[in-house]
Amino acid sequence: MLKIAVFGSGAGSNFRAILTAIQQGTIPDARISLVLSNNSGAGILGIARANALPAIHLSQKQFPDEQSFTDAVLSTLRDHDVNFIALAGYMKRVPPPVVAAYRGRIVNIHPALLPRFGGAGMYGIHVHEAVLASGASASGATVHYVDELYDHGQVVMQRTVPVLPGDTPETLASRVLAVEHELYPAAIRRIAENDRTAQEYIHRP
Ligand code: GRF
Repeated sequence: MLKIAVFGSGAGSNFRAILTAIQQGTIPDARISLVLSNNSGAGILGIARANALPAIHLSQKQFPDEQSFTDAVLSTLRDHDVNFIALAGYMKRVPPPVVAAYRGRIVNIHPALLPRFGGAGMYGIHVHEAVLASGASASGATVHYVDELYDHGQVVMQRTVPVLPGDTPETLASRVLAVEHELYPAAIRRIAENDRTAQEYIHRP
């Protein structure tokens, strides 16, 4: 069973898509254990509260140094028995000790076809501006494992959308976001299924 912490900073539409898939039984082997945000006013925390899920505001700014913030994140994850992290519009760097503690158990969604259009500075509308400026005929979304480098870890799943004549960064962003809402639940479902299969194999008499 994936016991998921979702980290986000904004509206939380990807989190909503994952939660809906779980509530509808599309991802039988997963549940949401908590939602964590660096932003106390983030929509993603409101969605969690409306669904009676633990909604936790944790920001580096609340702590004197990075170490004490990192310790608070790790103990929060432990207290809620989290074994998997899904970043969904989380605008902060995940502290390296958290990445290390959850290696192979932490994923992110990026609004382009990695490895192109990823890395430092490639977030939000900047990604779509760069895609249009490149003249690419397609864009899309990528779910990938998280390592210490931005947008770098192994790809779990990708989905493509066309770039259309007359696209603006905003029209492309909304076409990509619609696909993200299908892709992220599908990727988590695949990971949860693989986990279950591995557990059954390990526990077979
Ligand atoms: C998405 O476009 C995601 O790819 C990016 O941030 C955005 C989050 O949107 N990392 P939301 O908060 O899930 O609505």
